[in-house]
Amino acid sequence: EKGTYPYYMLKEIDEQPYVIRNIISKYKDDSENIKLDEAIRQAVVESDRIYIIAAGTSYHAGLVGKQLLERIANKPTETHIASEFLYNMPLISENPLFIFISQSGETADSRGVLVNVKKMGHNTLTITNVPGSTLSREADFTLHTYGGPEIAVASTKAYTAQMAVLALLAVDAAKAAGIEMDFDPLQELAIVANAMETLTDQKETMEKIAREYLSVSRNCFFIGRAVDYFVCLEGALKLKEISYIQAEGFAGGELKHGTIALIEEGTPVIGVATQEHVNLSIRGNMKEVVARGASPCMISMAGFEEADDQLVIPHVHEYLTPLVSVIPLQLIAYYAALHRDCDVDKPRNLAKSVTVE
Ligand code: M6R
Repeated sequence: EKGTYPYYMLKEIDEQPYVIRNIISKYKDDSENIKLDEAIRQAVVESDRIYIIAAGTSYHAGLVGKQLLERIANKPTETHIASEFLYNMPLISENPLFIFISQSGETADSRGVLVNVKKMGHNTLTITNVPGSTLSREADFTLHTYGGPEIAVASTKAYTAQMAVLALLAVDAAKAAGIEMDFDPLQELAIVANAMETLTDQKETMEKIAREYLSVSRNCFFIGRAVDYFVCLEGALKLKEISYIQAEGFAGGELKHGTIALIEEGTPVIGVATQEHVNLSIRGNMKEVVARGASPCMISMAGFEEADDQLVIPHVHEYLTPLVSVIPLQLIAYYAALHRDCDVDKPRNLAKSVTVE
């Protein structure tokens, strides 16, 4: 039920703080530690490499998941687009774990890979919002994202929930492997939930950004570096999917190798900066596009902001910034679609779950 909300997408964006708090309570044991199935922990710890398989927004969560598993758990991880994997299979390590990320658990491209790697005898884990789904039933293990039903075609709360669960999985595996750390994901996710709320309370700002930058433009670029780049891919997908504005996410440093040719007077470029080590370099990339006439919209995290940034998001742990920086991008896409009279929940040519190859 969408209640007083005009669209499910807006309701689902607003639900994200609750989903994160729900994940915290479902994955916390009585002594405030991460509660996770021992068999799943072993599967991660004993694997020599993780292969994340997913499509669309879930693939974007998987890109962040790779970083979390590598940085936190020191586990080599690669993330693959499901529909490409079987046609362009990488070398598989000796003892791999395959992780399928899927909101619906029904995506045919991901299932195609699952069926094949099971035949090869590999361990499989599905991270899904629908535990009874095909991918969940057919994999060896399931982790539930506890997001509640996601109705809008554009995925929002599933994405942030997937990344939260991936962070817990990474920390749990790291601890089991004896890796010391001072990152407490349960505590840090609580801070994330509050930060999300601060942003969902600022809808007028996102509405204004959408109106100013996107009401007449044909295209839009999102640029970021490191993990911010992955969030840019997601921001661009959200915008094109529901507003039909041609949007692309780019790694800041890659622009000058071709794409900068597309920048003209007034082209909106949304920059994302949440990481200290890339803050200055992404700002340099923004200056390069401004010099070619772009209209810059800078979204930064508190601590890295500059006076003329359009939006400053609350500070959260560097591992978890995508869960927060994506909120304004979801809302900007929503308002851009609204301003263009698009059917936000049911964009043209798309289905909620893609059950054909
Ligand atoms: O149900 P899944 O997570 O497997 O779906 C994957 C994609 O089809 C999905 O994320 C799609 O890209 C969304 N419409 C994006 O908003």
